[in-house]
Amino acid sequence: MAASCTTTWRCAFLALLVLFVSGAHGQLSPTFYASTCPNLEAIVRSVMNTTVANEKRMGASLLRLHFHDCFVEGCDGSVLLDNVPATPTTPAFFGERNAFGNINSLRGFDVIAKIKTAVEQACPGVVSCADILTLAARDGTVLLGGPTWTVPLGRRDSTTASMDLANRDLPPPFANLTSPDGSGLIERFVRKGLSAAEMTVLSGAHTIGSAQCQNYRLRLYNEARIDFQFAEGLKANCPQNGPANDTFLAPLDSTGSTFDNKYYADLTSLRGLLHSDQVLYPQNNQTQVKIVLKYKGDNAAFFADFAAAMIKMGNLSPLTGTAGQIRTNCSIVNR
Ligand code: HEM
Repeated sequence: MAASCTTTWRCAFLALLVLFVSGAHGQLSPTFYASTCPNLEAIVRSVMNTTVANEKRMGASLLRLHFHDCFVEGCDGSVLLDNVPATPTTPAFFGERNAFGNINSLRGFDVIAKIKTAVEQACPGVVSCADILTLAARDGTVLLGGPTWTVPLGRRDSTTASMDLANRDLPPPFANLTSPDGSGLIERFVRKGLSAAEMTVLSGAHTIGSAQCQNYRLRLYNEARIDFQFAEGLKANCPQNGPANDTFLAPLDSTGSTFDNKYYADLTSLRGLLHSDQVLYPQNNQTQVKIVLKYKGDNAAFFADFAAAMIKMGNLSPLTGTAGQIRTNCSIVNR
């Protein structure tokens, strides 16, 4: 960059550009709470240790909760806000929890509340729910055998949430890889500043956790690009006509609660559980095929790229400085 900085106006422009690009992360920094809450990471890890030891799936559920927070107006804890019924003087508030992809599906709110209580005891009024969720997602990944990464911190919590934006921005399991109307997986992630390659590595989160029959039923009964035995095995507990067994859970990949690259091997055997998983390995897109084969053959590359993409996703439009607030209770806006 210095080599091309030959005139004053050009230098000024480049300096502004650097400021703009680095400013996109606000003032997030791994040492944000170093003096105000030095034990934060240890407190989060301690609750996560017990939680995941009791129920492995919760590590996956918190990773997903963080993704659903970040994809709707940035990582601002908005997904954690509860609905509030109308009063004689105020209208009802509908948060993101009731959006299509979230209702009867998102889990882990109680774990975030538990961590928040422990954090508030140690450092009252200092740490945001958005940061707690980001750390819990990282720890859930690590505790199930996945990569670790340093989490930039300093997000603040929103005072609003939007069910409409959640319905608009969260990708559904029937999404295609691309679509002329912009509803494809690639377009949805690109709108958030994440590339097709980053979308593909982030989808590797489906190496852990489960999905409900209602989210993979259509794939079992309507799709050709599915392994016959895999589909037949799943059909036993996911009958063609709902609502029977709508909520029956199947693991998202063949190694269930272990974070590894088996997800990508499953895609190449046409054993992706969701339609949105299998479309990442299409017949007609060599770029995608190459990405999937790379991660199938190189667990270290998957881990490194996943960690980098998680940091990037975690930096989506954070509230910093004096914006937003530090909620006392993660599911309610401070009065
Ligand atoms: C690419 C678009 C994506 C789509 C269409 C999608 C869709 C889904 C669906 C439908 C489920 C099952 C929910 C249920 O049946 O209750 C699920 C589970 C899950 N998703 Fe995604 N997802 C996507 C990307 C991601 C990303 C980027 C992450 C995290 C980085 C993620 C993490 C997870 C995890 C960990 C689970 C399991 C949760 C649990 O067991 O509680 N997903 N996803």
